[in-house]
Amino acid sequence: MEFQQIGILRTPFTEPTDMPIQPSSARGAIGRIEIDPAWEAALQDLDGFSHIIVLYHFHRAPSPRLMVTPFLDDSPHGLFATRAPCRPNPIGLSVLRLCRIDGVTVEVVDADMLDGSPVLDIKPYVPEFDQPSGPVRCGWLDKGMDEIAVARSDDRFADSNND
Ligand SMILES: C[S@@+](CC[C@H](N)C(=O)[O-])C[C@H]1O[C@@H](n2cnc3c(N)ncnc32)[C@H](O)[C@@H]1O
Repeated sequence: MEFQQIGILRTPFTEPTDMPIQPSSARGAIGRIEIDPAWEAALQDLDGFSHIIVLYHFHRAPSPRLMVTPFLDDSPHGLFATRAPCRPNPIGLSVLRLCRIDGVTVEVVDADMLDGSPVLDIKPYVPEFDQPSGPVRCGWLDKGMDEIAVARSDDRFADSNND
């Protein structure tokens, strides 16, 4: 398996602590994706979409853990039941609002990732594809959802606390 970086994210956040933990807590945070010029033609027609799914490398993530105590809880959970960055394949996923595309620069809002995060892929967000039908359960998160709008990260996944 081999992946290549297709661009880099530019955001206001230079440290993993005291920053938004999801796009829903990053309302208004402006970011830019600088795409490698080799992929410029692949941006054609993306501007017709209001939102994009951005996949990126958590390039400053600590080593993977099996159990984590996530930002929105005080109890440990299995890693795969969380969005913590310390994953076996440290890939982040954010649905961002697309503002405009100027050449190889894609301007986005609600950025929740560190400045310098390498971008792996961009896909259009399509509710008919991406919104499941029927009721949705959110497990342990159901009880903490009202905190998300104001949630900020602390140092539990800071890269200096590697293990
Ligand atoms: C909980 S993750 C969620 C990111 C994404 N929306 C997801 O669900 O995959 C967001 C947190 O990861 C950390 N983070 C963001 N970008 C990172 C990066 N490039 N390397 C390491 N940690 C990062 C920050 O502490 C941030 O608050």
